[in-house]
Amino acid sequence: MKEEDAVGKLTTRTLAMPSDTNAAGDIFGGWVLSQMDIAAGICAGQRAQGRVVTVAVESMSFIRAVKVGDILGLYTHVAELGNTSMVVNVEAWVRRNRIGLREKVTEGRFKFVALDENGKSTPLPAEEDLPDYARESI
Ligand SMILES: CC(C)(COP(=O)(O)OP(=O)(O)OC[C@H]1O[C@@H](n2cnc3c(N)ncnc32)[C@H](O)[C@@H]1OP(=O)(O)O)[C@@H](O)C(=O)NCCC(=O)NCCS
Repeated sequence: MKEEDAVGKLTTRTLAMPSDTNAAGDIFGGWVLSQMDIAAGICAGQRAQGRVVTVAVESMSFIRAVKVGDILGLYTHVAELGNTSMVVNVEAWVRRNRIGLREKVTEGRFKFVALDENGKSTPLPAEEDLPDYARESI
């Protein structure tokens, strides 16, 4: 796959460290899932223009192992809009050992709900009311 094959906006980038490994020495899948939830939450929070919570992980595919020293890049986009909820698609790509091959390692769909100040679900703002930076993240 080529670099331009990633779908979505580059939302976070981080380095996989030895402290993130499983017993086999590869990166723990739960760490990758957590990084995906963080990136998806940034995307969802900008679309909601406020607080959001993850309500469901609709799908999660582990395609290739992540290794210590890989740069992990998370790409997100809002795939579906409900009234108070949205589905964010996330793709994780690595640059092997910082300078090597670039590969897609996971993909998933995370559902978020926008919350008001009392922690209750609240309608998403209309797209035309979003600031430019949030519109670009869609
Ligand atoms: C998210 C939460 C506030 C929703 O509460 P609720 O009383 O079900 O709210 P509503 O009935 O108004 O539903 C809100 C939206 O969430 C959707 N939803 C609720 N539960 C869902 C579920 N289990 N799966 C998928 N979507 C769900 C509804 O379809 C609705 O979408 P829409 O407004 O776009 O049509 C509540 O489930 C919650 O607090 N969950 C815990 C979230 C959390 O702590 N996440 C971090 C986990 S560590």
